[in-house]
Amino acid sequence: MEADQELVLSNSATSGNIFSQYIESPSIFTDKRVLTSSFVPGSIPHREEEIKHISSVLAPMLRGYHANNVFVYGTCGTGKTICCRFVVSQLQEAVKAAATQIKVIYINCKMERVSDTEYRLFAQMLKQLGEEVPYTGLPTDVIYRKFFAKVAEKKQSVIIILDEIDALYKKVGDDFLYNITRANNELGEANLSIIGITNDISFRDNLDVRVKSSLSEEEVMFRPYNAVQLRDILSSRAKDGFVKGAVSESVINKCAALAAQEHGDARRALDLLRVAGEVAERMGETVVKERHVDVAEEKIDLDRITETVKSQPAQSQLVLYTIIKMNEEAKQKEKWADRRLLTGDIFSKYEELCRANGAKVLTQRRISDLIGELDMFGIINAKVISKGRHGRTREISLAMNETALGKVRNYLMNRFG
Ligand SMILES: Nc1ncnc2c1ncn2[C@@H]1O[C@H](COP(=O)(O)OP(=O)(O)O)[C@@H](O)[C@H]1O
Ligand SMILES: [Mg+2]
Repeated sequence: MEADQELVLSNSATSGNIFSQYIESPSIFTDKRVLTSSFVPGSIPHREEEIKHISSVLAPMLRGYHANNVFVYGTCGTGKTICCRFVVSQLQEAVKAAATQIKVIYINCKMERVSDTEYRLFAQMLKQLGEEVPYTGLPTDVIYRKFFAKVAEKKQSVIIILDEIDALYKKVGDDFLYNITRANNELGEANLSIIGITNDISFRDNLDVRVKSSLSEEEVMFRPYNAVQLRDILSSRAKDGFVKGAVSESVINKCAALAAQEHGDARRALDLLRVAGEVAERMGETVVKERHVDVAEEKIDLDRITETVKSQPAQSQLVLYTIIKMNEEAKQKEKWADRRLLTGDIFSKYEELCRANGAKVLTQRRISDLIGELDMFGIINAKVISKGRHGRTREISLAMNETALGKVRNYLMNRFG
């Protein structure tokens, strides 16, 4: 204790507090939370139609009637989650005046563990209805009945929002959806409605026809935003998040235009604006400039690539590391001109790396699949080329810029040597 105090004293005596520069220089932000994607703003421009549609479906609940299930889909960042949460929060506010009860359960199925098994899912849903159950131990059908009994316990409407429902389907199949979308007959005076949300436009095609028809009694599609709409969204958030005058119209336009190019993703637009603000602040500036948006764009892409690589399974990382190493070797041999890396070429190097790391050696076929995935993530380019009567192969090149490559390479080198 005494030693600590001494340390503080001697520090401030010599050079002042190391954080004082951050306190003294005024922040560009008034409230940075407003610019993060989990914040729910007071108004949601350009989604009036969708909000109206969803609320008209749920409205019968105000009179204690059953509401249809809703299926909400569209690419990421189109406002699906925020609109659904907004509608149910409005509904819960409105219900205070009515003589009925509405409970909302929200599950993000992508969140690890919660939706890994049917059991965990029911446990989580029960918890949100105020009943604690152990996370393991009971047979699934027992917890199943417990949940329906809890819903049926009084006259009430329960809405289950299953966000990123495709992730749930991948983990537990569609039996769960079948049972839950058909439970209403057994619920007495209570009723249950599902709002299923997905970024995966073709998700519905996988479902059993019966599940499909009951899940999507109503469908609401969210279209990508265009640059003009993104500009409005950013302007209203910027007004609440930044100091007056810190963000010019041209900066907002730039973020909106960049995000519009990338499938009209409002999350991307907000990230660009927030990170540009952070970049400006770190450089000690009081106004966000267009060049800060350029830096933000690079930084976000870099983070995205490294995060993607880190989240890949070890085998996929080994394949990528093989490709990176072979590229480097080709470079050293100055064989740039005929540097064509084909799927078949990487096998022996890959095998060598596997052995050095005590990893199982996968078949050419599986490696080919992994290469396809890396291509899909935009980490490599794998162009399919024909080898005449010898069938087809893929020509592989790296899709990352030098900075990203350097970071990824370091990460893989630390992991695999
Ligand atoms: N119309 C809008 N007005 C204000 N913010 C929006 C709007 N649409 C999306 N956003 C914001 O963009 C981000 C992504 O929206 P979200 O609802 O999570 O997209 P999705 O669920 O479709 O992937 C969130 O931060 C959200 O607040
Ligand atoms: Mg979402």
